[in-house]
Amino acid sequence: MIELTDVAYVRSGVADLDKAVAFATEIVGLELVTPAEPAVGAQSEPRSAQLRADWRHHCLALIEGGSGVIASGFSVPDEDALAAAETELERSGFTVSRGSSSAARDRRVGSFIGFSDPFGNRLELVAQQETITRPVAFARPAGITEFGHLCLDAPDVREAYRFWSAHFNARVSDWIGDAACLMRIDPVHHKLAVFKGDGPGLCHMNFQVATIDDVFRSWHFLTERGVEIEMGPGRHPQSTAIFLYFLGPEGFTYEYSFGVRRIEDDTAWRPRTFDPAEPGSIDMWLGPTRKPTTQPQLGAS
Ligand SMILES: [Fe+2]
Repeated sequence: MIELTDVAYVRSGVADLDKAVAFATEIVGLELVTPAEPAVGAQSEPRSAQLRADWRHHCLALIEGGSGVIASGFSVPDEDALAAAETELERSGFTVSRGSSSAARDRRVGSFIGFSDPFGNRLELVAQQETITRPVAFARPAGITEFGHLCLDAPDVREAYRFWSAHFNARVSDWIGDAACLMRIDPVHHKLAVFKGDGPGLCHMNFQVATIDDVFRSWHFLTERGVEIEMGPGRHPQSTAIFLYFLGPEGFTYEYSFGVRRIEDDTAWRPRTFDPAEPGSIDMWLGPTRKPTTQPQLGAS
């Protein structure tokens, strides 16, 4: 069993890096931690940018090139745990590649491995993601407190749960029929979700905000700037989180949410099943609901 301690980052490929960075900073509010230029001596590398929301050195890397999600990263406790995960995944038939030391440096982790889930989502497990203690210099006061969770697509969410629960410490918190599986790896109701979709991809990346006021302030801010609101403001009955989904460049969906449920008594929690066709099952406030836009997995066939 591989213990995931947290979500680490999302790596996303963008055709227009400057536009994607401008959105991630000026609209979403993230801090740009590296300039959008190749490092000295690495001119052959594609241009990229790293963005920060919390203690992590960065939680979003935008890499110029093809448009599509490149990988989703999760932390494991330490280097020994990473080596054990590598062995376990290989033994289970997954093709695992160990990241080079320069690639690990670029990701600001001690080391990492990469592999694909059974549906073609590219995953990375990392040890020793760098912490930064100085306060985040948010590009706008959206109220972000942390990178909250990420959501992947898979054609069969039950199969996806079999994968996550067979190999990792992921436990289902709630089901939305065959449409979604919401999973926890710590007391937070979900740090990982899988939505039913046609192919592999990143459905959305979530940022927690400090108050309900932040959600509604951002709603007006985004609307005034012509940003496409995909869903919300609304309230999910599963996590009790008040949410707002909106569409960034190149099909990348961001979510702000406030008030996610914590499951403190892990053994007492019983996952519930919600029928997505039932009014209020996605949004207790009965607003219009739709599946957020997924950024397809880059390199998926
Ligand atoms: Fe979400």
